Amino acid sequence: MTDRTATLSFSDGSPSVSFPVLSGTIGPDVIDIRSLYGKTGKFTYDPGFMSTAACRSAITYIDGDKGELLYRGYAIEDLARHCDFLDVCHLLLYGELPDAAQRADFDQRVTRHTMVNEQMQFFLRGFRRDAHPMAVMTGLVGAMSAFYPDSINLHDAHQRDISAIRLIAKMPTLVAMAYKYSVGQPYMYPRNELAYAANFMRMMFATPCEDYKVNDVLVRAMDRIFILHADHEQNASTSTVRLCASSGTNPFAAIAAGVACLWGPAHGGANEACLNMLYDIQAQGGVARIGEFIEKVKDKNSTVRLMGFGHRVYKNYDPRAKLMRETCHEVLSELGLHDDPLFKLAMALEKIALEDDYFVSRKLYPNVDYYSGIVQKAIGIPVPLFTAIFALARTVGWIAQLNEMIADPEYKIGRPRQLFVGATPRTVKPIAQR
Ligand code: CMC
Repeated sequence: MTDRTATLSFSDGSPSVSFPVLSGTIGPDVIDIRSLYGKTGKFTYDPGFMSTAACRSAITYIDGDKGELLYRGYAIEDLARHCDFLDVCHLLLYGELPDAAQRADFDQRVTRHTMVNEQMQFFLRGFRRDAHPMAVMTGLVGAMSAFYPDSINLHDAHQRDISAIRLIAKMPTLVAMAYKYSVGQPYMYPRNELAYAANFMRMMFATPCEDYKVNDVLVRAMDRIFILHADHEQNASTSTVRLCASSGTNPFAAIAAGVACLWGPAHGGANEACLNMLYDIQAQGGVARIGEFIEKVKDKNSTVRLMGFGHRVYKNYDPRAKLMRETCHEVLSELGLHDDPLFKLAMALEKIALEDDYFVSRKLYPNVDYYSGIVQKAIGIPVPLFTAIFALARTVGWIAQLNEMIADPEYKIGRPRQLFVGATPRTVKPIAQR
């Protein structure tokens, strides 16, 4: 509750109206305008949700000016350095880092669900081999509601928990299957004695003829990619999941909607787009051509953007980008790729952009996707699979947000309104008179 109000007055003489001002634990206050339409017959207009808080949330907090990201109050740097992905999953889902017993139980529950229904491989076979992995993942995740019909009741907390564990456990299996299918190799079944990231890498890179030798640096890098992408507040895909689930649809369908939204290059697809951009610059002459490329980005008449730069919320260096840059160094050193031309190009491009007034004045800094593609490429992940790995990692965040929404007593089906600018009522004329 609050005793502060904000008053809205109108220049046309309509009476002023007051609204409560609500405070969170940190971050900007919000004006509670839920009664606006009832009191005035007017809506607010906010395309792109530039000024709209669509929900209450206690999961992730971003201070875009400071470049700060917290999951349940813990700084992303702290989590990235001291926890692994399953710790973070537990934190996001249940609100606290697990103690030893909770962690053992959580490991056991996730591990017991890593295998997918054998029939899934026949469903996968319906796709073209060259299908984009995100098209495949949208289909596979949506299809989970058909394969696991015993956990699709969104309003049953127990079923929601089972579907959460199934999704977290099976996403690595499905992403690896999508990859193996694309290259025509046999699927590798999960090995439950391996940790989450190592298991994923083995399913990706082992074959029945040759097992995958776990490399701790690379596995740690993959785990960090998972941690950094696990949740990010009310972004486009998370809002999609919330909106989709608000109709009461099942969790698998809602997460499939999130996967579809994430695919776009302005969101999760940026990692793939960023690496392709670096390849293009390299093909055209590399570092020597950066100036020309930057001019194209700044040209108002061109649609070229510096991919991996800019963020709706961060108006400072994305803290995930700093951690990813650090991981990039570690992985390239481990693999003896210190002189990787793509990494050098990325660093040179970053330096030039950070000194250029166009980027400085618009507060455009590297985001997480700027370096994650280079890390994944070095690990051996094919470029089209990058966004599928983002989806794998973000799944836990989507589920945590979905659970939070369903448990919120103020939850309602999402239904934005509009400012209608189309035709006023008219009648259909006979075809000869149109
Ligand atoms: N390259 C060049 N100019 C840019 C860029 C960029 N990457 N990003 C923003 N701008 C300019 C834009 O042209 C505009 O300039 P002006 O004011 O002169 O018209 C200004 O900066 C504000 O841009 P905006 O598009 O209004 O900002 P937004 O908050 O709507 O967009 C964004 C955020 C992430 C979509 C955008 O920065 C972008 O397209 N970045 C490249 C794609 C990318 O890296 N996306 C990954 C985001 S992080 C991963 C995730 O969480 O999904």
